[in-house]
Order: sequence, then C-alpha cells, then structure tokens
Amino acid sequence: MIIPMQQKALLLLEKKGRFSVETIDVPTPGPGEILVRLEAVSLNSVEWKIQTTDFVIDDFPAVLGQDAAGVVIQLGENVDMFSIGDKVFYQGFFKNRLAAFQQYSVASADLVAKVPSNLSFDQAASIPLVFATATVGLYGSDWERGGAGLTPFWYPEGQDKYAGQPILIIGGSSSVGQYASQLAKLSGFSPVITTVSPQNYGLAKALGATHVLNRNLSTKELLREVKKITAEPIQYVFNTIGSKPTQETSYGVLAPGGTLIQVVASLLDQDKLVSEKKVLYIGGNFHFPPNRLLGAGLYSRLTDLFESGVLKPNNVEVIPGGLAAIPDALERLKKGEVSARKLIVHPPETI
Ligand SMILES: NC(=O)c1ccc[n+]([C@@H]2O[C@H](COP(=O)([O-])OP(=O)(O)OC[C@H]3O[C@@H](n4cnc5c(N)ncnc54)[C@H](OP(=O)(O)O)[C@@H]3O)[C@@H](O)[C@H]2O)c1
Repeated sequence: MIIPMQQKALLLLEKKGRFSVETIDVPTPGPGEILVRLEAVSLNSVEWKIQTTDFVIDDFPAVLGQDAAGVVIQLGENVDMFSIGDKVFYQGFFKNRLAAFQQYSVASADLVAKVPSNLSFDQAASIPLVFATATVGLYGSDWERGGAGLTPFWYPEGQDKYAGQPILIIGGSSSVGQYASQLAKLSGFSPVITTVSPQNYGLAKALGATHVLNRNLSTKELLREVKKITAEPIQYVFNTIGSKPTQETSYGVLAPGGTLIQVVASLLDQDKLVSEKKVLYIGGNFHFPPNRLLGAGLYSRLTDLFESGVLKPNNVEVIPGGLAAIPDALERLKKGEVSARKLIVHPPETI
C-alpha cells in the first residue's frame, strides 16, 4: 500500500484563531500504533469550545477532532490485533498526529475497534467521544476527572447490579445522554428517568428510558414528577447537558449521599453546596491514563456490543464539503441547533 507523504488537514491556526484547510505531513505510526486513512469523522462541542476559549490545547497550529473511522494502511511495531485493510473506528486525542480532522491519522491500537458489520463508517465515527463520556461517567474510577465508579455492565458481577435503583439522566436525547440511558439500562437501573424535548420522547424510550419528562420542567416540577415515578431516593443523576439551569435542577433532585455526574465543570453556587452530595466533572477520553484500562477493556468488546444490537449508535447527518465544512457545522452545534444526531464529515471530499 502506498503511504502518501502529505495530506489535507483542518488547522486551528492559533489560540482563539480561525480554522483553515492546509497541507501537512502524514504522521508515522510508532510502536503500538496504526495509521488510518480516514473515511468519516464526527464533530463535538469540545471543538468549538477549544476555538472560542483557552480550553485544553496550547500548541498551535492544532488539528482537532476526537472521532474517526477509516481503513488501516500501516502498522507500527508490536501491533497484532489489526491488519492492513481493516475497517476501524477509534477515539482521537488532543495531539495533532492523533486527532481526527485530517485525511490520515495515527491511532493507539488498544483504543481501536473494527467497524461492526452492521454499521457504516459514518455511524462508527459517531461513537467514540460521546460513548466514552457516558462510560467514564458511570464506570470511571475516582480521580480528578473520573466517574461514579460503578461496576461495568460487561463484568459478570455488573450485569443488573443496580436493579431497583432509580437514575435520572438529564438530556436523554443528547449524544452523551443516548449512551448514558443505554448503559444505565444494561446496568439494571430502574426506573431510568430522562428529560428531552417532546419530539424525542420515542427515541429516549427506545434507548432504555422507562420514564420520559419534558426538558423544560423547573426543579420543583421535575422533583414532583420524579416523586410520582419512584419513592426511592435518587442517588445518581447524570447531567449530560451542563448548562447552569440543568446543573441546579440536577443538584436539586439528587438525594443526600448521592452522586451528580457532570460533563462540564460545576457552575453551582458554592455557598449552596452540601457535603452529602458529590459532584463530578468527568473527562470523557480514554487516553487519559486513569481511564485507559477501562477504555481498552471496552474497545476489545465494542464491535460485538454494536454488532449484536446490545448498543445502538446515534443517528447521523452527513455534511458535504469535506474538512472545509467543519467550521460552519460547529456553529450549528454551538447555537444548539442540532437535536438527537451526530454531524459527520468525509475527509476524502476535501479539496
Ligand atoms: N467532559 C467531557 O469529556 C465531555 C465529553 C463530551 C461532551 N461533553 C459535553 O457534554 C455536553 C453534551 O454533549 P453532546 O455531544 O452529547 O451534545 P449534543 O448531542 O450536541 O446535545 C444536543 C442535545 O442536547 C439536548 N438538550 C439541550 N438542552 C437541554 C436541556 N436543557 N435539557 C435536556 N436536553 C437538552 C437537546 O435535546 P432535545 O433536542 O431533545 O431538546 C439535543 O438533542 C456538551 O456540553 C459537551 O461539550 C463533555
């Protein structure tokens, strides 16, 4: 297979700068890595957050992008799980050679899975970051950006371990929320209560929610509705949205002794916090060292979990125009104009 020397990539030129499609070198895989020709990448809010704030990245120009699917074209040393020509998907990271918004990228083989036979490249590319975030939120270990430390559902002792315990998932139609609902169901939580817009009630139920409530309820109204559903205290709330109002509602519904899992840093008023309620701000990337074992264990099962229908991917919307189309698509995410779907771009279309 011929490995090109150069490729097109979408670069964020400087901190809070503009995006530009440029020609850069194709990275070389090191030990334990593979080189992938990308067929589909998916967009996440973190990319517009990086562009508009001081978030995460210090080295520029920077290639962003966390979610990728494509074909293996080169193997680094000590890679025996994959072959040239395999169709794979994987989670990228905040380093140019590992990021997704380019035509070729390097992946760490332990965080790669083969594309399930029932999924397209587009569907496979939609999975990694949001799925990792839901997984770390529920099962991640206790560290600065860790999760609730529940026993994973794929462990024999984890299946249905939480039967009879209620969980509230704020945002069951968000990309993270769709997986949080599925995982909560697989872990046995019941009832699984979630909040969405009325047009997404059916989707939320199909993904495992037992009770679906309107996302616009106030804290008081939500508490009242939750109490009608269960008399049990709500020990776990997974806020997959993160806005201040959703944080306040989540914290309000959480029972003393409970854990609030959040996808953004706490915006709660410090003077209203009580020591009996734990608030987490999770880091949904398996490349973070404390998440890595969890991620590698899961990636070795991920193809089967989707192929067997145990897990269902998010809906996708393909944006034409290649990498150059990403900045406008990120604006749609920023404005909250995307409901219950992942936006996908095809790097080979880039001119
Ligand atoms: N910490 C991390 O590592 C990490 C990783 C990934 C994502 N995140 C963050 O997690 C958040 C969600 O990401 P995402 O990719 O899942 O978002 P997304 O799919 O773009 O979210 C869109 C969905 O959010 C729902 N939504 C918006 N406001 C809501 C509210 N007040 N209540 C309930 N649902 C609401 C909408 O539901 P309806 O259409 O039903 O109204 C819509 O379907 C973002 O802030 C993102 O930056 C953090």
